[in-house]
Amino acid sequence: MSVHPSSGPLFTVPLGASVHELPQRPGPFFGIMPAGPRVTIRDLAAAKTAHVTWPMITAYDALTARVFDEAGIPVILVGDSAAMVVYGYDSTIPVTVDELLPLVRGVSRGATRSLIVGDLPFGSYQASPAQALDTAARFMKEGGAHAVKVEGGASVLPQVEAMVAAGIPVMGHLGLTPQSVNQFGGYRVQGRGEAGQVLVNDAKALEAAGAFAIVLEVVPADLAREVTAALSIPTIGIGAGAECDAQVLVWQDLAGLTPGRPAKFVRQYANLTGVLTDAVSAWGADVVSGAYPSEENSYS
Ligand code: KIV
Repeated sequence: MSVHPSSGPLFTVPLGASVHELPQRPGPFFGIMPAGPRVTIRDLAAAKTAHVTWPMITAYDALTARVFDEAGIPVILVGDSAAMVVYGYDSTIPVTVDELLPLVRGVSRGATRSLIVGDLPFGSYQASPAQALDTAARFMKEGGAHAVKVEGGASVLPQVEAMVAAGIPVMGHLGLTPQSVNQFGGYRVQGRGEAGQVLVNDAKALEAAGAFAIVLEVVPADLAREVTAALSIPTIGIGAGAECDAQVLVWQDLAGLTPGRPAKFVRQYANLTGVLTDAVSAWGADVVSGAYPSEENSYS
């Protein structure tokens, strides 16, 4: 269990460590959430009060959701990062509700204990509170999500208020909000200088509007610390330093499946690209040589 702000992350596995060197898994939810049937937003609020740090991870299908659920990750985000890691787009902007909903359905079927958060895609909530309500309701009714996430500060407050009033738990997202990448002119650190105070104000306004947690993406660690101290709801950092109440990563990034140089905030705990390449190459070679299938893979 990681207790912030003084202690380090729960697992620190050097890049390239073999599976045998990985530490033993602790009990359900690392002992930081009740072992009840399903993690709730009340459990996350209690974790903030108790000063315990928790992990959130992305998932996009039933099998990985099941693995992450059984590994004890309390919150799973079906991120609109699916745009890139599932659909191969070059940003999150093109992905649609109809593309994300089946992924949310798969994840919610695969995970039995984790809280499932569905990320509302670009263009599915900004127009009006009514549009946000309609999309969020689909994510919950058709996808089985327990909560939704939206990007933005002051501009989405009416949407957050309307969804919360309708009984929908809403997670906010500030800082480097990828749906606004064209406005930012690229993926760059947000909240430096005077923009920091705007972000603090947005975070407070999201809390007042009823958000139950806020993702802080790629902002200076000092600013994330200030926001975390100013709020009574949890902050979830990604590239926001160590003093947020929780941390989130895209699973393909931490497992070494994303191609290219990882972002500074990513720590790779495995090399899945290597593992899969080796496995598929070995199988392919066995097919070519006739070593696969053998008798034990065949039916009499
Ligand atoms: O879409 C996503 O995966 C996200 C996380 C990186 C926070 O928004």
